[in-house]
Amino acid sequence: MTRIYLSPPDVGEEERRLLLDAFDSNWIAPLGPHVDAFEAELADRLGVPAALALTSGTAALHLSLLLLGVGPGDDVLVPSQTFVATANVVTYLGARPVLVDSHPDTWTIDPDLVAEDLADRARRGRLPAALLTVDLYGQCADYDRLLGSCAEYGVPVIEDAAEALGSSYGGKEAGSFGALGVFSFNGNKIITTSGGGMLVSHDVGLIERARYLSTQARQPVVHYEHTEIGFNYRLSNLLAAVGRGQLRGLDDRLARRAAINRAYRSLLGDLPGIRFMPEAAYGVPNHWLTCILVDPDAFGAGHTEIRQALEDEDIEARPTWKPLHLQPVYADAPVLGGAVSGAIYEQGLCLPSGSRLETADLERISAIIHTVARP
Ligand SMILES: Cc1ncc(COP(=O)(O)O)c(C=O)c1O
Repeated sequence: MTRIYLSPPDVGEEERRLLLDAFDSNWIAPLGPHVDAFEAELADRLGVPAALALTSGTAALHLSLLLLGVGPGDDVLVPSQTFVATANVVTYLGARPVLVDSHPDTWTIDPDLVAEDLADRARRGRLPAALLTVDLYGQCADYDRLLGSCAEYGVPVIEDAAEALGSSYGGKEAGSFGALGVFSFNGNKIITTSGGGMLVSHDVGLIERARYLSTQARQPVVHYEHTEIGFNYRLSNLLAAVGRGQLRGLDDRLARRAAINRAYRSLLGDLPGIRFMPEAAYGVPNHWLTCILVDPDAFGAGHTEIRQALEDEDIEARPTWKPLHLQPVYADAPVLGGAVSGAIYEQGLCLPSGSRLETADLERISAIIHTVARP
C-alpha cells in the first residue's frame, strides 16, 4: 500500500496538457501567456480587478507589506496560530510582529483582542502599520469585526488566504477582503503549481507597483535602469500553466474536501474526547485540512498516540500549527493572550485531507483512530 500523505498534489490530464502547451510554445520564463491568463482567471473567480502571480505565498506576503510601506520600527498585528511565514515577512522588513491569540469559536485571530489593542494603541499614539489576518485551515477570519475596527483607526488589513482559496465569508471570496490578499500554491495546498503564490487587490495601482517590484524594479526603458531595490519574484509560465489546469478543477476539489470533512465527522463523531475544528456560521470554509482536538482524559490517549498509530500504518497526520509565541524564534515577540492557541496546539491534529482520498482510505484512517481510543 502506498503512503497516505496529509495533503498531496492532485493533478491530472488538463494540467499535463497545459504544461506541455507551455513547454512547446517555448515560453519557458517567468512571464508568458499562461502567467497572464492565470492571473486573469484567478482575479475573475475572486471578483477582484487585479492579480499578480508570484514564486510563493511568502513572496506575495513580503510584497504586500512593502506596498503598504511597512518598515523598521513598525508593529504589525498577526495571529499567533499560523505558519511561520506570516510573521517572518514582517521580520524581513525590520518591523515587529505582535502575536494575537485565536478566538476559540473559529481558531482565527480574536477580533476582541484586536479591537482592544487598537483602542489602547490609539490612546498611546502607537498604532500598528497593518493587521495581517490568516484564514486558518481555510476558515476565514471574522472580517466584519476586524475590518470595522481597523477602519476606525485607519489601519490597513492584509489577508493571508494562503490556505483558503475557494473559502468565503458572508458570500464574498476569501482573499478579497482588506487592501491586499495572498494565496499560496505550495504542493500541499488545495490547488498547487508545485510552488507559487498570488497577490490580489481591488486597487489596480497597488498590483502594478507590486509587478514592478517583483521584476527587479526595472524602469521602463530599453537599458537596465534601476532607482529602487526590487525582487525576482515572478511565477514561471510553466507553473502558471499547471495552475490554470488546477483552477479549472477547483470546484471539484472543494466538493471532495467538504465530503472528506463530512465523512470524518460521521466516522469519528461518536468517539468521546474528539472535537472538530469549529465552523463559523459567517462563512463557508474550503476544508483544506480537517483538524480535530483530542482530549486525552475523555479519549484515553492523546493526539501524539493517534499520530503514531497512523504513522505505523504509513499514514501522515500532523499537529496543528505550533503558535508563534511558543516558537523559539519569536520568544521575544510581544503577545496578546496566548492561552487559546496554546490549548489548541496541546490537543490539535490535522488529518489526511487530500482530494484524492477514497472512502475506503477514510474508513481505514478512522478505524485506526478507533483502535487508539481507551475511553
Ligand atoms: C498561512 C500561510 N501563510 C503563508 C504560507 C506561505 O506560502 P508559501 O509556502 O507559498 O510561501 C503558508 C503555506 O505555505 C501558509 O499556510
